Amino acid sequence: MAETVSESVRLEREGDVALVVVDNPPVNALSWHVRQGLFDGITKATDDGAKAIVVICDGRTFIAGADISEFGGGAPQAVGLQEVQTAMEDAPVPVIAAIHGTALGGGLEVALCAHYRVAVASAKFGLPEVNLGLLPGAGGTQRLPRLVGVPKALEMMTSGRHISSGEALDGGLIDDLVDGDLGALREAAVSFANKAVAEELPLLRVRDRDDKVAEAKGDEQLFADFRAGIARKTRGFLAPEYNIQCIEAAANLPFEEGLKVEGKLFMELMTGPQSAAQRYAFFAERAANKIPDIAKDTPLLDIGKVGVLGAGTMGGGIAMNFVNVGIPVTIVERDQDALDRGLGVVRKNYERSRSTTAEQVEERMALITGSTDKSDFADCDMVIEAVFEDMELKKSIFRELDEICKPDALLASNTSALDINEIAAVTSRPESVIGMHFFSPANVMKLLENVRGDKSSDTVVATTMAIGKKIQKVSVMVGVCPGFVGNRMLFTRGAEAERMILEGATPAQVDTVLYEFGFPMGPFSMMDLAGLDIGWKEESSSSSTIREILCENGRRGQKNGRGYYTYDPDTRAATPDPEVVELIKDFAVGQGIEQREVSDQEVLERLLYPMVNEGAKILEEKIAIRGSDIDVVWVNGYGWPVYRGGPMHWADSVGLGEIVAKIEEYSASLGGRHWDLSPLLKALADSGGQLQTHTS
Ligand code: 3HC
Ligand code: NAI
Repeated sequence: MAETVSESVRLEREGDVALVVVDNPPVNALSWHVRQGLFDGITKATDDGAKAIVVICDGRTFIAGADISEFGGGAPQAVGLQEVQTAMEDAPVPVIAAIHGTALGGGLEVALCAHYRVAVASAKFGLPEVNLGLLPGAGGTQRLPRLVGVPKALEMMTSGRHISSGEALDGGLIDDLVDGDLGALREAAVSFANKAVAEELPLLRVRDRDDKVAEAKGDEQLFADFRAGIARKTRGFLAPEYNIQCIEAAANLPFEEGLKVEGKLFMELMTGPQSAAQRYAFFAERAANKIPDIAKDTPLLDIGKVGVLGAGTMGGGIAMNFVNVGIPVTIVERDQDALDRGLGVVRKNYERSRSTTAEQVEERMALITGSTDKSDFADCDMVIEAVFEDMELKKSIFRELDEICKPDALLASNTSALDINEIAAVTSRPESVIGMHFFSPANVMKLLENVRGDKSSDTVVATTMAIGKKIQKVSVMVGVCPGFVGNRMLFTRGAEAERMILEGATPAQVDTVLYEFGFPMGPFSMMDLAGLDIGWKEESSSSSTIREILCENGRRGQKNGRGYYTYDPDTRAATPDPEVVELIKDFAVGQGIEQREVSDQEVLERLLYPMVNEGAKILEEKIAIRGSDIDVVWVNGYGWPVYRGGPMHWADSVGLGEIVAKIEEYSASLGGRHWDLSPLLKALADSGGQLQTHTS
């Protein structure tokens, strides 16, 4: 018999054992009624004379964390999480957490207040708050290290990594593993509870255990080494450092004192701009999955086999994404040499990856069939074209694919800027054609910028989004325009960067401004990395751009140790080169441009404001569905620091009025289409609206 305790929690009984069951779809987040229900359920269970209590969840997962949508206020007042935790920890009878799915954040923190934890083998555990710019604010920073030790807690909390049940059992996080599903878990948890009663197992409170944290007490070196190890990856982020400080407190201070440190640092993060941006990014990624005019129940194509055309820089990486989730791939190249080269790179990538065992390398390579004959695409459910960026070539290929492929096969192009409608038009089935713009390296970069043609069918659009999720990409659907969302905005930034070095900013200054803003690198370092001589021919070079001049002077980029920078042959460290500054200066003088000192603030504004302006134009033209989609593109594809949300979120935080005023100023003094003010941006600035919430 079940008794309703709150709208999302009920109390059940099996003999002496009470079960407090949470049912708050989709992920059993700790909304106010869950907290209230847990508190009342536990209190009621003991009042009713239960001899043990099991906390378990319905649906797909144990509690996946605090309800992030409640952060920032608005939810009705209810009992706090800490009161729930105290009720569990201080319960007079054993409390057992029964875990399936994912016990994350506040969910794991609840489980850490049970006296025992049992889990199914497929369960995952983590404190991912760091990825929301936060730290676990419900005692997790003090309890996790007490169970798993300081080194593991440091790693888990600064990465947000989810660990498996096996790792959790080995590390001491859980007490028992159960084979089977939710039904088996319930049974095992009740029998664990009965055993705890029969054998009078102690009511273990994690807070009272000090043995594991004692090992790190006063060990400053341990923390210093850990900080140094993650410094590069976490540059610019506040939350990883704050998580470390909490674990230091767990090692060095009594539990209650540690909790105070946690509370103070948690509040600081929660009210700061970084976490606001990261929480926004979390919901933005999920919003991007929703295409308003595509019904949820749109039939999907079954993608059991994928074809990839071209095994170059992109094709090989694209193939790896599918193979990694068990989908076989046929790769076709134009000749055997190119095919062997491409497949060799794929194999090397797998062999180099620390997460792939030798056996897995062979398994994955066995899922790839190489060929030089496009007719081998005949049994593929989708084909992704990744040949050179040449419209005529792509058109001839799509004509051939139209002949070869199954009638309902999805035909995708990985073009980075070309018109998908023009490509689709050469086929007899433009409704089957779509853009799938992967980013380099395609097996690593998370973004998938999908490009919907005018005629792409609902099924093709929905299938493209679904397959993106399957291969674990962050997918965004955009419309057709030159460069789509990402590259179109990038072009405006590049144009201003080029202009500014002629006016007197140095490449190193421009790159440093972007690096300090939080990008992994600036445009000139990026060009050096890619190679300055891409598309350059000595015979036709005419000293008409800085890039040509650098190539003419033997500066090809990182590959020959000299480009915009000079590179140390051993360490590859970049040093600004006065010769480059001189070459730029001479060229500028030749163009009649007088060089001057350009301030860092001007560099920043001229790099980023045209992007904001272009983003607004993209929204005006309905190329992006919503402002936040643009941010998802920039954070996941172009290294925009997630703690600044993305260009639209950032612009809102700077103030649209201020940006509009500056754009008008620059437009008057510099000119150029990318400075023509977007009417939408102007209207939003005037009305107090926002770019990040704008929907087109
Ligand atoms: N709060 C509110 N909503 C949440 C949520 C949360 N913690 N976690 C997920 N959701 C929502 C999503 O927005 C999405 O809603 P939608 O369907 O309307 O778009 C829905 O649940 C399903 O989420 P996903 O699409 O992400 O589903 P997946 O199955 O792919 O992933 C998951 C499930 C692994 C649980 C993933 O959602 C996730 O990682 N969630 C966040 C977990 C997290 O960060 N927890 C810590 C929260 S902070 C905290 O606990 C503070 C504490 O220390 C005090
Ligand atoms: P690439 O030059 O490395 O590879 C292209 C491959 O296609 C070559 O191996 C070539 O032999 C093969 N090929 C050419 N014509 C062919 C044909 N008729 N039949 C079979 N194979 C053929 O080029 P890359 O960089 O992989 O680019 C491919 C596409 O991806 C382009 O459209 C490009 O714009 C796009 N893209 C590239 C990105 C990058 O960073 N390199 C990023 C995103 C998209």
